[in-house]
Amino acid sequence: MGKYIMAEENFRTISGEDKIFGINKLAQEMIQKVGKEKVANATVGTLLDDEGNLVVLSSVADALKQLSPNDFAEYAPIAGIPSYLEAVKKAVFMDYEPGCHLEAVATPGGTGAIRNAIQNYTRRGDIVLTSDWYWGPYNTITQELERRLNTYSLFDQEGKYNVDALKEKLEQVLAFQGRALIVLNTPSHNPTGYSLTSDDWDQLLSVLKQFAADSSKKIVLLVDVAYLDFAGDAKEVRAFLPKLENLPHNLLPLIAFSMSKSYTMYGMRCGALLCMSLDKAIVDEFKLVNSFSNRGTWSNGTRSAMVVLSRIFADPLLFEKVVKEREAALSMLLSRGRIFTEAIEKSGLTMCPYHSGFFAIVLCENPEAVAFEAMKEGVFTVPMGNGIRVSIASISEEKCREVPEKLALAAGRITR
Ligand SMILES: Cc1ncc(COP(=O)(O)O)c(C=O)c1O
Repeated sequence: MGKYIMAEENFRTISGEDKIFGINKLAQEMIQKVGKEKVANATVGTLLDDEGNLVVLSSVADALKQLSPNDFAEYAPIAGIPSYLEAVKKAVFMDYEPGCHLEAVATPGGTGAIRNAIQNYTRRGDIVLTSDWYWGPYNTITQELERRLNTYSLFDQEGKYNVDALKEKLEQVLAFQGRALIVLNTPSHNPTGYSLTSDDWDQLLSVLKQFAADSSKKIVLLVDVAYLDFAGDAKEVRAFLPKLENLPHNLLPLIAFSMSKSYTMYGMRCGALLCMSLDKAIVDEFKLVNSFSNRGTWSNGTRSAMVVLSRIFADPLLFEKVVKEREAALSMLLSRGRIFTEAIEKSGLTMCPYHSGFFAIVLCENPEAVAFEAMKEGVFTVPMGNGIRVSIASISEEKCREVPEKLALAAGRITR
């Protein structure tokens, strides 16, 4: 007898309530009882201001309000509106024009882009590779598509990007299935806040090229840039992109772009998958297979969101407004990150290497118990692996200063 009454499990492990939403619910309940000043709800993955309100770029909201009825009502082409696809390229590359063929296909958010990449560049049953700290939906998507997620250790003993661990796992995967798709979330990795350095990139690409020297192997590097505009200086965080323009044909970089954070359009579900190759046939094939996937899953994407991004990149004044507003939000986030890091050092706790981003991981023993203990003091975080994920995007500077000590005290009470 299967586990379900009428449904089929289809090799997926389906748990009940999402853990993060469950803890968030507890935080909300405590806020109702004691007031929001006494609660640090560091669970949610959206950027909130110091009062706990969602940061919404008003320039983007205004652009949405100015759309015509047709911009909502009409279908978009299956692959996305052409002007949107051009805007996506600019949003990712800015003024830089990569010296290779570049194509994009619209998807519902970065999630849709990741889904399409896995569907089109691996086979059913394949292993998909990512680091041991990873965004949970990678596992959900791979299971949903009847693939399996396998991980390598993200950091070495010195807290550096562990290219040797990747190399070892990749060798096994290629020996086993002859092809590999690696999901790499950078800059501002969720959940650690790590961004690959230029040196990390060089080492990584050198390893991938070594394996690609065997032309019978296929390697796809899916770079998930969901936090690209919330990682630091716009040019610096994009400095890795030219490294991807000149790779061998059997080493294919794909980029998962999302409007959720960069344009505060989480709910509008809009993103894209991009493909870079020196071989035109490979990018043409990319367009074909991803359009097919779109048609067979969600069909067309969200036209209104696509029109908004097209307008932002067609109107220099509007673009300027969006950038200015976003810079203010970014500077708030970066400052929280600095304060949190300093407070962690003072508290005696340690965290995974953090550069920038929405989340940080505080390392501790027995994270479930520590997180539960900290809840009693009004600190709501998400235990994962051998640490606790703190969403600094959703708590004020003041709380970034206070939370580390409260976590340290909770950890102390648990180990005593
Ligand atoms: C690591 C990572 N990748 C991708 C996404 C994609 O989000 P969306 O589907 O909303 O674009 C998110 C959102 O939280 C994320 O954290």
